[in-house]
Amino acid sequence: MSDGSGGGVQITADALIHLRARSPLARRLAIESPYDRLFLTEAGAGLAKMALSLDPVYEQFNLVRYAWFTRRMSQHAARYGQVVVLGAGYDTRSIALPELRAGKCRVFELDYPDVLSAKRRVLGDNGVALPEGLRYVPCDLNADDPGSRLAAAGFDASAPAAAVMEGVFFFLGGERAAALLEPASLGLARGSALTFDAWTETRTRTLNEKIMRKTGHRLFGDAPLGDGAEEAAAALRRKGYGDVTVVALDEIARQYGVDAIADPMRNSWLVIDARLD
Ligand SMILES: C[S@@+](CC[C@H](N)C(=O)[O-])C[C@H]1O[C@@H](n2cnc3c(N)ncnc32)[C@H](O)[C@@H]1O
Repeated sequence: MSDGSGGGVQITADALIHLRARSPLARRLAIESPYDRLFLTEAGAGLAKMALSLDPVYEQFNLVRYAWFTRRMSQHAARYGQVVVLGAGYDTRSIALPELRAGKCRVFELDYPDVLSAKRRVLGDNGVALPEGLRYVPCDLNADDPGSRLAAAGFDASAPAAAVMEGVFFFLGGERAAALLEPASLGLARGSALTFDAWTETRTRTLNEKIMRKTGHRLFGDAPLGDGAEEAAAALRRKGYGDVTVVALDEIARQYGVDAIADPMRNSWLVIDARLD
């Protein structure tokens, strides 16, 4: 689906589609998106296989994260009038989840232009209409100003919103990633929520070294939130977020009964929920 014109990171969205559409674990977790199969590619299957060979929890953690985020996105949609999905890839929950498609909240999906145009084309070719309240907002999060892109797409920076970023943060450049967490960068009003997952320094360094040996280049940006849950929470508080919860995916996997494989880098993949005071 992805042509790799943005440096290749887009293809990681294809790999997640492969997991969700093909993994028996996805069925066990009752992950059923009616549209995922439209985005299946051989490149996605190949990348998923390679990623699993480098990271034993790749499948388990990505799927349990998706199940967890699905619930959180439904809750956000029930509570907020606007939901922003950063690095949306081929995630189609804004079309499939009743709470998101109902039209009560507006949804803004950001990703590289080629990802969003491929997504629009595939859905259109298959007769899938986009809900009235859904906007695709082309944006390179490493180079463009997401706040002004959102404003141009009709996002209301004076009203609280929920911003969600799943499986994206660790691909961004360290400084850009840190800047994206500044509430002003997206135009988040007081009372807004931010939910995303992030890696510790140890996980980022270890996986970059493995990828480097395999492909000759790094894939992940420097981790800007330190090396553990407490450091990450403190960094978010310094940016003005209160009510910050940081939970490792190891724990969430246990809660879902999907912890057959222990992460060799324990508690290094964090899920962060924060609210702006
Ligand atoms: C692993 S995929 C996750 C996709 C989706 N959130 C999901 O869970 O299925 C990472 C996504 O982040 C997007 N991404 C990575 N770096 C980006 C950047 N600098 N600007 C915009 N999108 C980016 C990729 O194009 C890709 O769609």
